Amino acid sequence: MAHLLDMQKKSLLRLDHFIKDIVDHSRNTRLPVDIESVDFEKLLQATFEQLQFLENGSRIRKNISVKQKGEFHTASSRLEIILNNLISNSLKYSDLRKEDPFIEVQIKCNSTSAEIRVSDNGEGIPADAKPRIFDMFYRATANSSGSGLGLYIVKQAIQKINGTISVHSEYGKGTEFIVVIPNFLANDKKKLLTAQEIVH
Ligand SMILES: Nc1ncnc2c1ncn2[C@@H]1O[C@H](COP(=O)(O)OP(=O)(O)OP(=O)(O)O)[C@@H](O)[C@H]1O
Ligand SMILES: [Mg+2]
Repeated sequence: MAHLLDMQKKSLLRLDHFIKDIVDHSRNTRLPVDIESVDFEKLLQATFEQLQFLENGSRIRKNISVKQKGEFHTASSRLEIILNNLISNSLKYSDLRKEDPFIEVQIKCNSTSAEIRVSDNGEGIPADAKPRIFDMFYRATANSSGSGLGLYIVKQAIQKINGTISVHSEYGKGTEFIVVIPNFLANDKKKLLTAQEIVH
């Protein structure tokens, strides 16, 4: 009986995650890119709160460092999508056989840009799978209970705010994603609009 309940819980969580992906995707493509002032510390805290029910979540050491100098302006709705997906991947693809499974989030920002690093010592990504991880519906492991949408949505969200993403990963060792996004100070909004036209 307990086993059945456990299975039910897992499929509910999976469904919940899938619906979230779809909603994120449609929000990202349809909603305007509203630029707001962002508090990275708060945003990270909210992200970890949202993810606390993920399997494995509590067994992984979290190392977080935020260095925010002054105001940072971007579309916080997009930033949420990015952080949520990268951090949930690091938790999902952790390797609990390692002595000290950890995830590290480092954010540094100044008046021009922010650099967000999300790294883990999880299962890593096989070299031949790496070029495809941002593709829609692509999953690099049979362990994934997801739909392969997360990183696709991340990439789209990053394009919306004129950022870049790169990944370093070694199979069996761990993974690091590096996101760089520009700081859109109030008078930059016009620039963002023109950039959006190029994206579409
Ligand atoms: N931090 C990571 N460590 C190891 N593998 C990863 C990591 N992040 C992503 N991957 C691999 O890249 C694939 C694609 O990731 P993506 O987030 O797009 O899909 P997913 O996690 O399988 O499903 P979804 O995010 O829709 O639930 C994953 O299936 C996984 O194999
Ligand atoms: Mg994912």
